[in-house]
Amino acid sequence: MFAGIDHVGIAVTDGDAGVATYTRLIGRGPVHRERVDRDGVEAVMFEAGDSFIELLIPTRGDSAISRFLATRGDGLHHIAYRVDDVQAVLDEQRAAGARLLDTCPRSGANRRMVAFMHPSAAMGVLTELCMSAVETGPTPESR
Ligand code: CO
Repeated sequence: MFAGIDHVGIAVTDGDAGVATYTRLIGRGPVHRERVDRDGVEAVMFEAGDSFIELLIPTRGDSAISRFLATRGDGLHHIAYRVDDVQAVLDEQRAAGARLLDTCPRSGANRRMVAFMHPSAAMGVLTELCMSAVETGPTPESR
């Protein structure tokens, strides 16, 4: 059910420095920028082959990403796997005893439906499941 790595999220305190660094590293500027006000974050996406790098830049001091940066500093924040059906994977993982942070998909950056699993479910790595918002997964009739 895991179709690949959609993106790797990297927390960055200084957005300009992060964008400059990844533009140099990947050799091309960002393909998408989006503020997700609900999460207090700006997501800046760089394309690297079939996957993306998602820089996460805080837009306010009380956001989860700000708290992460305050304790851990810049660096790897999460890995996002592309799946066909986020809800089905959540249900399956919960049944297997994994700790979830979201019990159903919600809208994320870059027109994705996303859900997060607690780092304890993946050996200390915050794990995101995502699917394109236009592909809402199999319809009940096709299951
Ligand atoms: Co993400």
